[in-house]
Amino acid sequence: MLTSEENERLTRVGPGTPMGEVLRRYWMPFLLPEELPEADCPPVRVRLLGEDLIAFRDTNGRLGLLDRFCPHRRVDLFFGRNEECGLRCVYHGWKFDVDGNVMDMPAEPANSPMREEVKIKSYPIMEWGGVIWAYMGDPAHQPPRPPEIEWGLVPPSHRNIQKRLQENNWAQGVEGGIDSSHVGILHSLLTPPEPGKGFRDRQQAVDPAVPYLAMDTAPKFFIRPQEYGMLIGARRKASEEEYYWRITQFLAPFYTMIARREEKGPISGHAWVPIDDENTWTFTMYWDPDQPLDQSEDFDATKVNVDVCPDGSYRPINNRDNDYGIDRSLQKLSNSTGIIGIGLQDSAIQETMGAIVDRSMEILGSGDAAIVAWRKLMLAQTRDLEKEGDLPLPHKTELYRVRSAGVVLPRGIDFEVGAKERLTVA
Ligand code: FES
Ligand SMILES: [Fe+2]
Repeated sequence: MLTSEENERLTRVGPGTPMGEVLRRYWMPFLLPEELPEADCPPVRVRLLGEDLIAFRDTNGRLGLLDRFCPHRRVDLFFGRNEECGLRCVYHGWKFDVDGNVMDMPAEPANSPMREEVKIKSYPIMEWGGVIWAYMGDPAHQPPRPPEIEWGLVPPSHRNIQKRLQENNWAQGVEGGIDSSHVGILHSLLTPPEPGKGFRDRQQAVDPAVPYLAMDTAPKFFIRPQEYGMLIGARRKASEEEYYWRITQFLAPFYTMIARREEKGPISGHAWVPIDDENTWTFTMYWDPDQPLDQSEDFDATKVNVDVCPDGSYRPINNRDNDYGIDRSLQKLSNSTGIIGIGLQDSAIQETMGAIVDRSMEILGSGDAAIVAWRKLMLAQTRDLEKEGDLPLPHKTELYRVRSAGVVLPRGIDFEVGAKERLTVA
């Protein structure tokens, strides 16, 4: 449980808020390259950390992220003309390059000093690792590159990245991403109805390869603070002699990992990127460190991905307007939610909590240990930045080279020791 003040501090991300200032010190993924596919393509409306912006790719392929509104008389630059290395406002023709310089002011005298004096707000932006990133913080503290998470390091053929709109605060997303105790419950499947058998007897793990998730629905959590964030070990009974460990990382400020199923094969994770206080871009990443993903094969068999509207909004087709497509007979007979797909189950359940959940009204249990630790960690970053004026972590990009694991270990072995090799990127 947090006080209302702490909840505000944790969740609000607009300009000048403590958390907004923390997030501005990190490079943040916010677009897929498919949204700016080629030189001089249409510009894209962007909202990020509560600011309205416009992104475009110029004639030379350079990327720009500018204030959405023309500094002259505030016209929306979405309607601008992307031409000859700049974006031209169509009202009086002021034209801007990707760095925010004015290139042309056709309605002003040719010798007007305004051309040198005026600038439009612009932020650095780059394409790396299959996504487009922005840095919205103090230029003096700009990290050299985005965090070296493994999905960004592998060749393009080894990864698949999707995004969807989530209509709730980013912190609810992160908390869902590190909440290992919901996995065997929210996402469980039910065996066919048998007279006299209730939910607990019919419950099956969503992934038949990991039966332990349903066998033990009350994992014990072990939280190990790390410089990058934290390592979370969720321990379930596997046999009389062994434990099944789901070992996942939280990497500041908003990256979570899903436990890898096997020693080899794809890994997956998320980024929960704040659009504003009440909306989030949820990125889902899959990657195989060792070989190309077979993009034709359904590597996402459990449907962590969500089908989104094809209109560029990335809003799920099933969303709160249609109760996420809930099917009550499905809920009775074969899964616990009646909602199809792991990703949509997560989105739906997080949105039902309201845009910003009131954390002063919660009753937390032992299964929420990782969530409590996460809140402390991010609140500490806001205080560190206020005190020191600096955050070292965004510059330590190499610390992000870690992997999650799902592993069965003898009971006497510490999970960090037993899984050591599997937790680092070679
Ligand atoms: S409003 Fe944009 S040029 Fe006048
Ligand atoms: Fe989930």
